[in-house]
Amino acid sequence: MINYEAIKPLLFKLQPETAHHVAETVLRLPNICEAPFNFFKKSHFITDDVLKQELFGREFLNPVGLGAGFDKNATMIRGMEVLGFGYTEIGTVTPIPQEGNPKPRMFRHIEEESIQNAMGFNNEGSANVVARLKNRFPYTTPIGVNIGKNKVTSEDKAINDYTYLIKEFDGLGDYFVINISSPNTPGLRDLQNEEFISNLFKEAKALTKMPILLKIAPDMTHEDAIALTTMAVACGADGIIATNTTIDYSLVKNPKDIGGLSGAVLKEKSFLLFEAIAKELYGKTILISVGGIDSAEEAYRRIKAGASLVQILSGLIFHGPDMIMNINKKLIELIKADGYSNITEAIGADRK
Ligand SMILES: Cc1cc2nc3c(=O)[nH]c(=O)nc-3n(C[C@H](O)[C@H](O)[C@H](O)COP(=O)(O)O)c2cc1C
Repeated sequence: MINYEAIKPLLFKLQPETAHHVAETVLRLPNICEAPFNFFKKSHFITDDVLKQELFGREFLNPVGLGAGFDKNATMIRGMEVLGFGYTEIGTVTPIPQEGNPKPRMFRHIEEESIQNAMGFNNEGSANVVARLKNRFPYTTPIGVNIGKNKVTSEDKAINDYTYLIKEFDGLGDYFVINISSPNTPGLRDLQNEEFISNLFKEAKALTKMPILLKIAPDMTHEDAIALTTMAVACGADGIIATNTTIDYSLVKNPKDIGGLSGAVLKEKSFLLFEAIAKELYGKTILISVGGIDSAEEAYRRIKAGASLVQILSGLIFHGPDMIMNINKKLIELIKADGYSNITEAIGADRK
């Protein structure tokens, strides 16, 4: 067990981005010296026949993954296994390295257990991340590769960034995620249109056998989100991840005027959009739910609504790493209490 309540006040005295660097420094350690962390992993990495499922041709030992944005450069894959995540989504990675937006660009809304970030795809670029992944391959847990366009790439050339990245990362992960839903790259969300999505999936599917998922923003109307995701699936998308952060600043008392909100204030908005999409697409594609998940009950609500997998990012910051273990342990209980012997029976139970 980690006494996160003791560590948290110290971490929260630091700028959020500095605190993230401290966490990253610790979570990189299992790359160099695994043995001392094995003890921790033994207690924190929860798996059980109830939680195991096969997806994308790979076994997922538990359904709780790390959302994109925490491990942008794939430096913490082993660290995330130690913390108990069943899979990790790295990125968003862009073709060339970029600094991201000026600092400060990440803020805590402590009372509201929410984060506001305007990072802007700061990352080391695909060549560096590809080299790192090749070094770590094969991984113990599945890896998603979340890709995005560079800020300097114009919208009419955006498709080339995505196809370039698919070729670069082909075979180095278990699924791709097309990220066109970050609010922090000017014009990116404008790519959430049917023409771009259909052209992109047609080209992308010819380039790789890896599944390609689409991650969407929570700020579209349900009608638009259903139309877009249905069309993406018709064009070959292998799954939908809902949702990214929201630009609805009315959700917090003292918002900054940049970036997107995640964490507790996103919970309901993200769930409702996910549910609307699931009503249409459950059974037709793989659905992953992310946004404000901070308990086993919330994770289970998403699973019963149709999510094969869930992801967490902000919850980790506010509740600490034991949360992943606790969610997985409780999920086993919740699934059994409903009379199911495996998670796959619970997925989409509310849709049947
Ligand atoms: C600091 C930060 C950076 C993020 N960076 C990315 C990113 O690079 N790519 C992406 O697809 N989502 C990114 N996200 C969004 C998360 O993956 C997730 O969709 C969102 O935070 C909602 O989940 P949560 O409430 O559990 O945090 C970021 C979120 C945060 C808080």
